[in-house]
Amino acid sequence: MIKIEHLKKEYPNVTPLKDVSVEIRDGDVISVIGPSGTGKSTLLRCINLLEKPTEGHIWIDDVEITDRKCNINKIRQKMGMVFQSFNLFGHLTVIENIMLSPMDLKGVSRQEAYDRGMELLRMVGLAEKALNYPDELSGGQKQRIAIARTLAMDPDIILLDEPTSALDPTMVGEVQAVIRELAKTGKTMMIVTHEMNFARAISTRVFFMDEGGIYEDGTPEQIFEHPQRENTRRFIRRLKVLELSIESRDYDFLGMAGQISAYCNKNQITPRMANRIQLVFEEAMQNLLPALKEPRVQAVIEYAEQSESAEWTLRYGGERLDVTASSDELSLSVLRGMTQEIAYAWEDGAELPNALHLKIRNA
Ligand SMILES: Nc1ncnc2c1ncn2[C@@H]1O[C@H](COP(=O)(O)OP(=O)(O)OP(=O)(O)O)[C@@H](O)[C@H]1O
Ligand SMILES: [Mg+2]
Repeated sequence: MIKIEHLKKEYPNVTPLKDVSVEIRDGDVISVIGPSGTGKSTLLRCINLLEKPTEGHIWIDDVEITDRKCNINKIRQKMGMVFQSFNLFGHLTVIENIMLSPMDLKGVSRQEAYDRGMELLRMVGLAEKALNYPDELSGGQKQRIAIARTLAMDPDIILLDEPTSALDPTMVGEVQAVIRELAKTGKTMMIVTHEMNFARAISTRVFFMDEGGIYEDGTPEQIFEHPQRENTRRFIRRLKVLELSIESRDYDFLGMAGQISAYCNKNQITPRMANRIQLVFEEAMQNLLPALKEPRVQAVIEYAEQSESAEWTLRYGGERLDVTASSDELSLSVLRGMTQEIAYAWEDGAELPNALHLKIRNA
């Protein structure tokens, strides 16, 4: 079991991990997902002490590895790490690469290391390459060798940091297949990946990293089907988001039109859709602002690339104010022409509890 308490990792310019506390149970197969730069690699590197945490504690099976008196080399033997780049020794054959650490670090006999090495090579489908040099192998084969080499140390915990992202797309499958088999063996695994279908298929648990830590932790079904929190939902559905905040009736509508237009260009939204996104915003604000006591609106547009659908959400404060029910139909009719659906919701306890959702018509 791995227990992490108040882990913080600070670099001179950035603090990717602010305060992480989590327990990882034996046999958990955890996919670590999230936007770039959110500390996924840093988390793995802190767990096997390739990075020294700035603050906090990590225990592995009741041994505190962040304690200065702890024997790091002994702990590291319990953990194997697989990197994007395979780091095989070019001057050693495949089988020698695999035999090296067990003989050097664990004092395993040459024969035993060889037998186990061959067994592992069979497992990753590469027994016939035992006497080749790494240069003679494809990227996918090298990564399978790197996995076999990690397993040769018989680690309790396997950490994999984007093991397939440096590979030619045709070779991703063979490496994923090896990892998928490994995941079934009951070993504790943590794997950073950008491949969502793979993450979903192999893991028992998913960490979505954002905002300086594990932002959401759940089963693959929870994270991929029913994400509870905003950023997870946006990431999973690959939503492109623009947030605008309006603080006055005389807001800079030209400036905002410019921002919306730049957002549409950047995300290659079709001109027709972009036009509707603009018009719906303007029209909705024209309806809404005069009705508000305090002219404060938070407007968010979300565009889903895959389905090419876009939706505005306008949040505002004050009493319950459902413009879809109260307003005169004439002005709403313009909005209805450009939207597929207009829905109002009251979000109890929110700072801006009124929410108006406007789903843009995309045909
Ligand atoms: N050795 C370092 N020195 C300074 N900053 C670092 C160092 N390693 C990482 N960082 C910074 O810490 C942040 C988190 O990096 P990390 O590599 O953990 O992100 P990640 O989630 O793995 O991203 P990616 O998906 O791009 O691999 C980044 O802003 C990165 O630039
Ligand atoms: Mg990384």
